Amino acid sequence: MTPPDGESGPAVSPGEVAPTPPGDTGTWRRLSSAQPAPSAAAGGPVAGGVHRFTDNISLRARLTLIYGMLFFAAGSFLVLLNYIIVAGLLDNLTFTVAPDSPYYDDPTALENIKNTYIETVLAEVTRFSVIALVIVGLLAVGLGYFVAGRALSPLHKITRIARRLSERSLHERIALGGPDDEIRELADTFDGMLERLDRAFDGQRRFVANASHELRTPLAINRTLLEVALSDPEASADLKTVGRTLLETNARHERLIDGLLFLAKSDRELDVRTQVDLGEVAETVLSQLSEDVEKSGLTVRTDLRAAPVTGDPVLLERLVANLVENALRYNVAEGEITVRSGSYEDSPAVQVENSGPVVPGYEIEGLFEPFRRASGDRVRSGRSAGLGLSIVRSVVRAHGGTVSAWPRAGGGLVVTVRFPRVRRESAAAGR
Ligand SMILES: Nc1ncnc2c1ncn2[C@@H]1O[C@H](COP(=O)(O)OP(=O)(O)OP(=O)(O)O)[C@@H](O)[C@H]1O
Ligand SMILES: [Mg+2]
Repeated sequence: MTPPDGESGPAVSPGEVAPTPPGDTGTWRRLSSAQPAPSAAAGGPVAGGVHRFTDNISLRARLTLIYGMLFFAAGSFLVLLNYIIVAGLLDNLTFTVAPDSPYYDDPTALENIKNTYIETVLAEVTRFSVIALVIVGLLAVGLGYFVAGRALSPLHKITRIARRLSERSLHERIALGGPDDEIRELADTFDGMLERLDRAFDGQRRFVANASHELRTPLAINRTLLEVALSDPEASADLKTVGRTLLETNARHERLIDGLLFLAKSDRELDVRTQVDLGEVAETVLSQLSEDVEKSGLTVRTDLRAAPVTGDPVLLERLVANLVENALRYNVAEGEITVRSGSYEDSPAVQVENSGPVVPGYEIEGLFEPFRRASGDRVRSGRSAGLGLSIVRSVVRAHGGTVSAWPRAGGGLVVTVRFPRVRRESAAAGR
């Protein structure tokens, strides 16, 4: 159900996306130039490093290789030793022939026969030794590979569990059984680290919850006091002006605290995992914001198709709401917004495109940092907390997805959020 990718439209400069032609919503907006190279933070081979052949082979293969090489070196030495011993023994043998033999009285001929005999025996011994060495060596390499696999299997187990834990929760432990050896020591060390991390995150969570309560309560009291003061008919005009300004400031602080709390919450691992359709989420968000949309006078187009993802519906709704709110807020008069959901390059995705002032491509990465705004946008800082896109990024990370934003030709932004595909078993469980 991937929509067609036809990308005809006005010529755009590299890194920009052509605006959606009026009425057309069935096309995902793509980056017109090559995707930027992954940043260093994304990980990857370090440029300029020296790569050895063994860098790319597994530890199991490396151990087998070392074992095989040692076996063949020792085997070759043994074959050589065998050759020397057999040659020495044969050389010390006394050769005699029957008295009626024609060579009985010819010591030179006898010596020749002895030499030929020794050479033949040595050649055969060497040939068989080498054949035996190769056969036994190959068997030993196979056995070495098997033994290396057995020896490394606890490590694989630790890696598997550690990967699962890092993806899901810090509460579980590896708790490796078996003998008290080096591998067990590694697992126990890892468990200790998890324990400390778990405690640190727990402390942070509790701190955030307590801080939220402590910060919100005085703000709520302030709001009530100001509202009461403002509702007094005898209040002077000056007092009312000051009161309204204070109410606005108070509301901004409340938004800021809410945003920070939400950011702290979305940074954690997911507590809830249900199957959610991004199309439905986008529809809900648009209906919730319908009043703002109407007031803005912008043209809103939608192309909402099913896009199932596994995750926390509250966080996902907030993500889409942040994107749509931004599209509404950073737009131009008589501008437009296009919201799409569906399958983008085989992954469930949601995309919000809006017209607006030109956003330089080099500024986009920074907009996802907390409290960062586009350079021409400083005046708005009084009305916004500067946390919307940071929350988007953090929610996307918690769901294992990716978010990318591209400048749109003629101004505005195209933000695309992609999530991992829902696995069949979890889809069945979610039903
Ligand atoms: N759709 C968009 N089009 C153009 N500029 C945008 C868009 N979305 C975000 N920006 C720019 O990125 C900045 C950061 O956006 P973000 O949503 O993180 O914070 P905010 O909107 O300023 O505050 P908040 O969302 O917390 O109320 C904005 O100030 C704006 O300059
Ligand atoms: Mg915002």
